[in-house]
Amino acid sequence: NVGNATNILWHDCPIQKQDRQQLLQQKGCVIWLTGLSGSGKSTIACALSRSLHSRGKLSYILDGDNIRHGLNHDLSFKAEDRSENIRRIGEVAKLFADAGVICITSLISPYQKDRDACRALLPKGDFIEVFIDVPLQVCEARDPKGLYKLARAGKIKGFTGIDDPYEPPCSCEIVLQQKGNGCKSPSDMAEIVISYLEENGYLR
Ligand code: PPS
Repeated sequence: NVGNATNILWHDCPIQKQDRQQLLQQKGCVIWLTGLSGSGKSTIACALSRSLHSRGKLSYILDGDNIRHGLNHDLSFKAEDRSENIRRIGEVAKLFADAGVICITSLISPYQKDRDACRALLPKGDFIEVFIDVPLQVCEARDPKGLYKLARAGKIKGFTGIDDPYEPPCSCEIVLQQKGNGCKSPSDMAEIVISYLEENGYLR
């Protein structure tokens, strides 16, 4: 039995992940960006994808907001729906990584257990968790979509960081911060991730 289905058999294909990776000259993996709304996840994801593209590397972004327009349009922001959102996107990201693609996910993904479950789907090392460590006050001051204002006014219930939890990663591969005078731009942050990928053999 697989989940609720019975009589399901796995099919293998003679062309495998390593063949696709050979073709693409890169290693498929998942770069999992996590952080509060307004922390810059989508902007960093785009900068990263642009930089990889310019190096001739194939990437694809799975953005929470965008996927909630389609595959996950049935999900709300209550805890079990957020978990289901993360679970589905984790499964899709796993398929992209198996295709040899560098899959960048951009989701608040507020719960550690959900991120851990996605990590467990991938071969060791291929789930690269990146914490966009921007404090709530900074995200709220930016408020690019005006959602924090609505949440503070009680017009959005269960908004992450206001009246819904965000659990920062206890241990992750990369932490990106903007602190200090040498303020880092989204492209500077993307380059930190690129260096990690280079050092760990993902770009060949
Ligand atoms: S989650 O928690 O991972 O399932 O969320 P995600 O799929 O990444 O979607 C986050 C975007 O949805 C908007 N939004 C909310 N965020 C948090 N809490 C509540 N209640 C909420 N309602 C709507 C918000 O614009 C998030 O976008 P980002 O890009 O993170 O700012």
